[in-house]
Amino acid sequence: MEKFSRLPRHVSIIMDGNGRWARQRSLPRFKGHYEGVESIREVVEECCVLGIRYLSLFAFSEENWNRPEDEVSRLMNLMSVAMLKEEENFVKNGIRFVVIGNRERLPDKLNETIDSVMDKTREGKTLTLIVMLSYSGKWDLLQAARRAAVLHPDGNFTEEELSSLLVTAGIPDPDLLIRTSGEMRISNYMLWQIAYTEMVIVDTLWPDFRKDNFRLALREYEKRDRRFGKVK
Ligand code: IPE
Ligand code: IPE
Ligand code: MG
Repeated sequence: MEKFSRLPRHVSIIMDGNGRWARQRSLPRFKGHYEGVESIREVVEECCVLGIRYLSLFAFSEENWNRPEDEVSRLMNLMSVAMLKEEENFVKNGIRFVVIGNRERLPDKLNETIDSVMDKTREGKTLTLIVMLSYSGKWDLLQAARRAAVLHPDGNFTEEELSSLLVTAGIPDPDLLIRTSGEMRISNYMLWQIAYTEMVIVDTLWPDFRKDNFRLALREYEKRDRRFGKVK
């Protein structure tokens, strides 16, 4: 494999298209979610191989709570099972596992699993794997603004101070955002943090998005000219 001349420090992915993948095969939607876990596994492995330091995955949005109860509970269950299954692998490979989002809405059992896996993997130095669960960009900005109003009643705070109140504090902004399944929208994902993120949208549905698709997206990123508003 030819080396990458430039790799993103933080890759974020809106993993979309699980339901359509299942429908194309006349399977129930949750089968698409199950298959999607395999894609996560491959992409995580590839990040470790390539030396990408942060991978964040949009797994469940605040809006996704409005899906049918059966789909929501299957998703919550799948997350618990997948986390527990991968725990050993995370520790072995130096993966620090982090969940970010409105955790108050998550079932108690899932929260217990998350706390335990986060605790066991906290020393991981190779890759920080961030799962965005019950997350939305507006929710994040609102909770940050509320806390800023308490901490700085004079309204006098900096961009850095507001950034440090977002639930993603301490994680560098994404350099690359990938969305699968061809949808050309942000769907209330990180809003503040993607101000200068490069975007790659691919038609591939998430359960079909594997190592080679990930590498292609990284090749696309490699070609981008990041100007940040300057003239080069
Ligand atoms: C993404 O796949 C997974 C979640 C949002 C939880 P979808 O479930 O949105 O699949 P499509 O978009 O309906 O195909
Ligand atoms: C975005 O996908 C959320 C996640 C991938 C977790 P959706 O499928 O929920 O987004 P919309 O409804 O197509 O915008
Ligand atoms: Mg979708």
